[in-house]
Amino acid sequence: MSSPLDSDLKFRLLCREERGLLRKLKKNQPIDFSSNDYLGLSRRLNEPRNSPSGSTGSRLLTGHSDYIDSLEETICRFHSAEAGLIFNSGYDANLGLLASLGSEQDTILLDSQIHASMRDGAKLSRSPTYFFRHNDINHLENRLQALRAKCKNHLFVAVESLYSMSGDLAPLKEIVQLCEQYNAYLIVDEAHATGIIGEQGEGLVSHQGLQKRVAIRVHTFGKALGSHGAIVLGSKILRNFLLNHAHSFMYSTALPPASLCSIEDAYRRVPLLTAERTHLRGLIEQIQTLDLPGLLTSETPIQSLLIPGNEAVRKAAQCLQDHGFDVRPILSPTVRSGEEILRICLHAFNTKEELQMLISLLKNHFSGALT
Ligand SMILES: Cc1ncc(COP(=O)(O)O)c(C=O)c1O
Repeated sequence: MSSPLDSDLKFRLLCREERGLLRKLKKNQPIDFSSNDYLGLSRRLNEPRNSPSGSTGSRLLTGHSDYIDSLEETICRFHSAEAGLIFNSGYDANLGLLASLGSEQDTILLDSQIHASMRDGAKLSRSPTYFFRHNDINHLENRLQALRAKCKNHLFVAVESLYSMSGDLAPLKEIVQLCEQYNAYLIVDEAHATGIIGEQGEGLVSHQGLQKRVAIRVHTFGKALGSHGAIVLGSKILRNFLLNHAHSFMYSTALPPASLCSIEDAYRRVPLLTAERTHLRGLIEQIQTLDLPGLLTSETPIQSLLIPGNEAVRKAAQCLQDHGFDVRPILSPTVRSGEEILRICLHAFNTKEELQMLISLLKNHFSGALT
């Protein structure tokens, strides 16, 4: 049975169809009088491999192929989703998703630490937008209660499963329950959980068996998957709606074949990287069991140290960089003033010894020995 959201999107698609404006992905014909490959260079840059270097147009024009269709199906199977649409980046996916979904009658509710791409998407939509305090279930419920009473149509809640700055996980089961209780559609950005959370890196939603209870998911390929691009997962109707309404999809040259190959390769490899995920868990335990001042609790590869003040956090990062460790400060206004952090990203290729050295440097820095 389709959801009220699907029925609504279907209606909007039907209106398009009646006006003869429904967009569909089409196969290319052999004699090209359509692509933007004016000099034919996309055919020549990769001559030895005999595959075009560029996609030569938007997916709705010449950038579509059977290959990208079947890649979308492979990714959907991996994440147990009905359908999916690949975007050129996670930023494009979130922007296009919220901007196209949100009408004047809908309402968008965002976690206060949600990524800029979701905020920008909400701004571009025509929906009133509200925030709830980061990962605060009580505040989310208060907001849902108040907004449900005044929202005329769909209520969308958007969260990240693994937050990019603080490294903490969303209390997803509770959020799902509240969304069901208040009849809201949940959108989960799995950018940093993709490849990391779950036995095979399938993400937090699948890992917790919530696939059927989360309306929309966004997985990006530019982080643990080592490539570029993103996919929006949801119903078939949502996919059709997005390819008709999401401007960041419709009006941008599609990903080139080389990117698609690397995404396919990443999805082949990621389920097998069990040893890498186990090693990462070891590093997480190593840093979390130490008494590092300001270290936020996190069971993920993103380990952040709260060092209030742009100057102080810059100094701590510089100290590590002077010793060859690439650690970046996250300054205000990217984060709120007073909540500046030193963002340490752990990787499967980092060794325990490297992490121990990093921790010692930090301890020395805080004790004043290196300042
Ligand atoms: C949570 C989150 N969502 C979306 C994005 C955007 O993804 P991309 O880098 O593929 O544009 C990022 C990137 O930093 C992110 O951290």
